[in-house]
Amino acid sequence: MKLILVGATGLVGSEVLKLALAAPEVAQVVAPVRRRIQPHPKLVAPIVDYDRLPAQEPWWQADAVICALGTTIKTAGSQEAFRKVDFSYPMEVGRLARQHGTPSFVLNSALGADAGSGIFYNRVKGEVEHGLRSLGFPTLVIARPGLIGGAREEFRLGEKIMVPILSLLGPVLPRAWRINPAANIARAMLGAAMHPLPGEHIITSDRMA
Ligand SMILES: NC(=O)c1ccc[n+]([C@@H]2O[C@H](COP(=O)([O-])OP(=O)(O)OC[C@H]3O[C@@H](n4cnc5c(N)ncnc54)[C@H](OP(=O)(O)O)[C@@H]3O)[C@@H](O)[C@H]2O)c1
Repeated sequence: MKLILVGATGLVGSEVLKLALAAPEVAQVVAPVRRRIQPHPKLVAPIVDYDRLPAQEPWWQADAVICALGTTIKTAGSQEAFRKVDFSYPMEVGRLARQHGTPSFVLNSALGADAGSGIFYNRVKGEVEHGLRSLGFPTLVIARPGLIGGAREEFRLGEKIMVPILSLLGPVLPRAWRINPAANIARAMLGAAMHPLPGEHIITSDRMA
């Protein structure tokens, strides 16, 4: 199969990339990135500007898209800039891939995603889920992890505090509230892309704990 992976340099995306490159079923991964990444015989990694994605590239035609794009309001600098990365970019990727005939889209969303939420982050996640539904993918898979576990270079205070607490409490917490290791999320998303089922499917956090 041929896979488009956006967000390949992130915590979850890099796990997806590792698994996909190692999977015999995956013949090619196209990972549009904004900085050079380590080459691999199965990897095509065009350097792109997500504000001006190249609409005519033949690589938009694939078997599935996995989207692990995302930022934080702090890193992005404003709610508007956050929304661009977490809503507009996935929508544009979805639009172009669908236009070129790609049948499946697998989104890394978040626990609590809800277009009607009063919490900005949850609302944007809900809006992107909603927006992707409107693009008409025969298969749409939405992974909704809780707090993601894994080694991150960037310092995020909330994660630094919460990851050890939730890890310690893990055994007594309901599965839905436990840490979701990036590798588990990646495995679930890649599995869904490799074995597409028609319609919309939600992967809840308890299945990635
Ligand atoms: N952190 C959590 O606990 C948590 C919980 C639930 C859901 N989520 C969601 O899960 C998803 C993946 O999270 P993650 O922690 O793996 O993310 P991450 O490590 O921050 O990686 C984000 C990816 O998006 C790319 N990206 C960010 N801004 C961009 C821009 N302006 N233009 C192009 N690419 C851009 C990054 O590329 P560069 O490497 O070039 O920056 C990177 O590949 C996100 O949507 C996040 O909201 C996170």
